[in-house]
Amino acid sequence: MRLAILTSGGDSPGMNAAVWRLDRAAAARGWTALGIPGGFAGLLARSAAPIDPAMAARFARLGGTWLGTSRLPDLPARLGEIAGAIDALGIGGLVILGGNGSLAGAGRIAEAAGIPVVGIAGTIDNDVAVTDLSLGFDTAVAYGMEAADRLRDTAESLPRFFALETLGGPTGHIAAAVGRLAGAVATLIPEEDADLGKVTDAVGEALAAGDHALVVASEGVASLEATLGTIAEGVATRLRMVRLGHAQRGGSPSVRDRAAAAAYAALAVDAIAEGTSGIAALKAGSLTLATYAEHRDADAPDPRRWRGLL
Ligand code: F6P
Repeated sequence: MRLAILTSGGDSPGMNAAVWRLDRAAAARGWTALGIPGGFAGLLARSAAPIDPAMAARFARLGGTWLGTSRLPDLPARLGEIAGAIDALGIGGLVILGGNGSLAGAGRIAEAAGIPVVGIAGTIDNDVAVTDLSLGFDTAVAYGMEAADRLRDTAESLPRFFALETLGGPTGHIAAAVGRLAGAVATLIPEEDADLGKVTDAVGEALAAGDHALVVASEGVASLEATLGTIAEGVATRLRMVRLGHAQRGGSPSVRDRAAAAAYAALAVDAIAEGTSGIAALKAGSLTLATYAEHRDADAPDPRRWRGLL
């Protein structure tokens, strides 16, 4: 059996750990694991190569994805081509690691190609509703926490108004986790309209107390810089803003991301061996294979819950 593995969309720490575990689990069953380079673009180009176990093992501890990745927004229009490539490459099972768009694509491919396709949520954003933990979230939150802790060192010594902007795309999961755990005076997320007056008062009080006046905000908050500027004016203090940017998407996977990668990979290979498709997921501490229909119909998860943290 030829098991193909593909990483798609924004890379995330833990993808390489999962690829390594998938390769080992495939080998244990006597299958050949093929790596598709560059995500769906590589599959469309009918490009695949057997995974070198030593290479997979070496990269397992690193962030990013050594297979490479790409974004393919027009995937739904190219299902026929993808099914043709799967057939031409003799692929009998497929594992796709990526975010919501990639996982929706995985479900469509399972139908179009008629082979078992298992999705593994790999995105630092943790916005995949069917699982409490997507690969990379824990690592990205840890990086945000380290930045917040460092800001606190200086903020408590020489009080200033600090803002820390996290990644997260249009969602606030990373910011909500960092803000809550770092003890920020306020956290701004796209899912919630902030009460600017209250935030300004909280920042002003923290400054007056010589406490750390830190606001954590997700990049997806509309007019973020203008909002922070208004708060700075309100407290008559210049804003010191730190943007984590794509540095937050890199770094070696945390223990939790590595453990999730191993568990999802084992589940994925077991499911494919049984001819089953779905999304490897963790729900309330239990491993489960969610269906693509569940993924399609789920409401967006709420960042104010402790998803992925407990
Ligand atoms: O993969 C998710 C994500 O890292 C978001 O947090 C971020 O907004 C986005 O990807 C950035 O995408 P790109 O690398 O395409 O600019």
